[in-house]
Amino acid sequence: MTELNAIVDTAKAAFSEAATPADLENAKAQFLGKSGRITELMKGMAALSVEEKKSLGAAINLAKQAIEAALSDRRQALAEIELLAQLQAEALDVSLPGRQRGQGGLHPVTLTTERIEAIFGSMGFDVAQGPEIEADWFNFTALNTPEDHPARSMHDTFYVEGGSDAAPNLLRTHTSPVQIRHALQHVKQHKAAMDAGLPMPEIRVICPGRTYRVDSDATHSPMFHQCEGLWIGENVSFKDLKFVFTDLCRTFFERDDLVLRFRPSFFPFTEPSAEIDIQFQNGPLAGRWLEVAGSGQVHPNVVRNMGLDPEKYIGFAFGMGLDRFTMLRYGVNDLRLFFDGDVRFLSQFQ
Ligand code: PHE
Repeated sequence: MTELNAIVDTAKAAFSEAATPADLENAKAQFLGKSGRITELMKGMAALSVEEKKSLGAAINLAKQAIEAALSDRRQALAEIELLAQLQAEALDVSLPGRQRGQGGLHPVTLTTERIEAIFGSMGFDVAQGPEIEADWFNFTALNTPEDHPARSMHDTFYVEGGSDAAPNLLRTHTSPVQIRHALQHVKQHKAAMDAGLPMPEIRVICPGRTYRVDSDATHSPMFHQCEGLWIGENVSFKDLKFVFTDLCRTFFERDDLVLRFRPSFFPFTEPSAEIDIQFQNGPLAGRWLEVAGSGQVHPNVVRNMGLDPEKYIGFAFGMGLDRFTMLRYGVNDLRLFFDGDVRFLSQFQ
């Protein structure tokens, strides 16, 4: 009996030493195999009496069961160890960022443009476009700009090939030529009705787009963005300009405390003219006056160049800097960031 207990103990020890399933099968063979110790003991029973066979047989069976139980315990333990090792080896780091397709978004100046179109849209303004390569007549002459005006010099304006000396082509220096183009088209469209004595539907339009000047530093880029505004009717006054522009700025910046200042200025195409400055009452820019637009009552000569009688039609125009509006809204201090195309900068606006 003690011998049986010793065999069981030795088997248990051998099993727990087995580090792999193969080791364990070898260890099993020593006890339960064809010439294993238990098998040998059973063979040895042949010579015993019936009584002895009974009692020893039962004891051997118990020992055999104990060894089998230990074996299956160890088998299970080894299987678990193996599974763990495999899981560790094949582990996935689920915290690694996935591979994604980059998501595109709109440029901040485009976001501003769309926002301004929506605000003016709610005030009944259409949106018009014009060419970026413009005729000298639309960019300057029709806008009452004298031949010797400094803006016409090569110093300020990019002239391009394709025109004549008398009628050169240029990259538009502002969006104001679209005023003329749109008004002429509007007048043409309503000419028959006007000839029949009907009143002209008011011209109410904004014209956003790219503009070009020979200029480059942190706040000036050779290509920049403006948005023109034009409202012409029989009874449109400076008061309307003030109302419209104040409403635009307060809505755009979501600030009811925004204060506007109309500072007397000069433009050949408006009389009187004003620069529009805004002042935030709170926040990092509080108290500073920031220029955001030029404006004024459309000059009678310009009204005439639109094909309208300046005795009858009157209104206002303004030209605002879209890059400026974008910089102020998002707190960007270098205009050039908008045109570098650095995705780290641009993705912050989505
Ligand atoms: N075109 C002017 C500029 O670029 C702005 C402006 C537009 C002024 C309309 C008055 C009226 O500076």
